[in-house]
Amino acid sequence: MSGLAVALDGAEVVVCCGSGGVGKTTTAAVLGIELARTGRRVVVVTIDPAKRLADALGLPDGLGNEPVRLDVDPGPAGTGQLWAMMLDTAATFDGLVRANAPSAEQAERILTNRFYHNIAGALSGTQEYMAAERLHALHDDGRFDVVVVDTPPTRNALDFLEAPGTLARFLDHPLFKLLMMPTRRGLKVLNVAAQPVLRTIGKVVGGDVLADAIAFFQAFDGMETGFRDRADDVMTLLRSDATRYVLVAAPRRDTIDEARYFAGRLRDAGLAVSALVVNRSTPTFGTPRAARPSARARGATRLVALWDNHDELVATAAAEHEQLTTLADDVAPAPVCWVPMLHGDVHDLDGLDEIRHLLFEPGDDTAGGLFGREHPTG
Ligand SMILES: Nc1ncnc2c1ncn2[C@@H]1O[C@H](COP(=O)(O)OP(=O)(O)OP(=O)(O)O)[C@@H](O)[C@H]1O
Ligand SMILES: [Mg+2]
Repeated sequence: MSGLAVALDGAEVVVCCGSGGVGKTTTAAVLGIELARTGRRVVVVTIDPAKRLADALGLPDGLGNEPVRLDVDPGPAGTGQLWAMMLDTAATFDGLVRANAPSAEQAERILTNRFYHNIAGALSGTQEYMAAERLHALHDDGRFDVVVVDTPPTRNALDFLEAPGTLARFLDHPLFKLLMMPTRRGLKVLNVAAQPVLRTIGKVVGGDVLADAIAFFQAFDGMETGFRDRADDVMTLLRSDATRYVLVAAPRRDTIDEARYFAGRLRDAGLAVSALVVNRSTPTFGTPRAARPSARARGATRLVALWDNHDELVATAAAEHEQLTTLADDVAPAPVCWVPMLHGDVHDLDGLDEIRHLLFEPGDDTAGGLFGREHPTG
């Protein structure tokens, strides 16, 4: 078993994180394929609105908010499955409201509320919170054994770790309690003017906006407990051994610094990196078969040039390993898995399988992985 396979053994959630363009989406798709090969039913969910996951998987029509099944190797027992989906924050929020409102009328009241339409989706934290809710639902979904999460290329990609806690704090906020109060007392309409705090807020944001907001929160009455319970569940899941964090980096100074930031962010949350994938590294192509021409033999200039080229690659690869040591120390004892830069982009299942082979079958002839595939665009 490769170090990465050991790191993923028994995982129920795998989160791929790292800075922009390093290969998070590619890695998430590759891990999905590998986990399916081990007989597990996997769903890869991308939080990134860019279509990269669909592109990598070779799905021209893109992905939606509902998982679609892909045709991959189901493993020796034939039980493995791979599904993929793209998180749609608004659709997830609507679905949550419908599923949790005590009545269809109450759901309708929320869904048609102007505050909900115009503001709720844009409020900071909503997207992260919906990602956490979706993760909760997918983890509970009987169709799947493992959820692989592909995060967006932002520094706050891991905010969803905190989102459930943010929601719980929000529900405990005195302002929220104040807004909820009138329905608790059985009053239908909250008299904005009678509450000095609300009068002030109303002056700032406008009376209509405030009235919509109040109606929105009141329509949520009775649903907080469910939200709070799921928030607690998801926090526990993300902090448990069932969740593994795979950090992706490229061997370049800027992305290494970013990766160290992510590793620190996880450490601050009391979490550990399970594996580090160093993607797009310089390939060294092993040891050349031809002998090095002695003393730059006359007539062997092309061979000399090839050897020089090879020496340069070896030196660059060594420098990359050197650059990686601090990050590797940061995440130790997590395994460090190297994936070389391939000839072309990864945009189909074959390309992903090539990377899968390099990551999970490193003992095999990896050169076959580098040279064995045709790259029509070089
Ligand atoms: N080992 C590799 N060799 C060659 N190309 C690669 C390799 N890994 C990824 N790529 C290509 O690099 C590009 C970026 O990869 P990917 O989309 O997986 O990165 P990302 O970290 O998810 O990016 P973003 O931060 O934009 O979401 C893609 O075009 C992909 O095909
Ligand atoms: Mg991506």
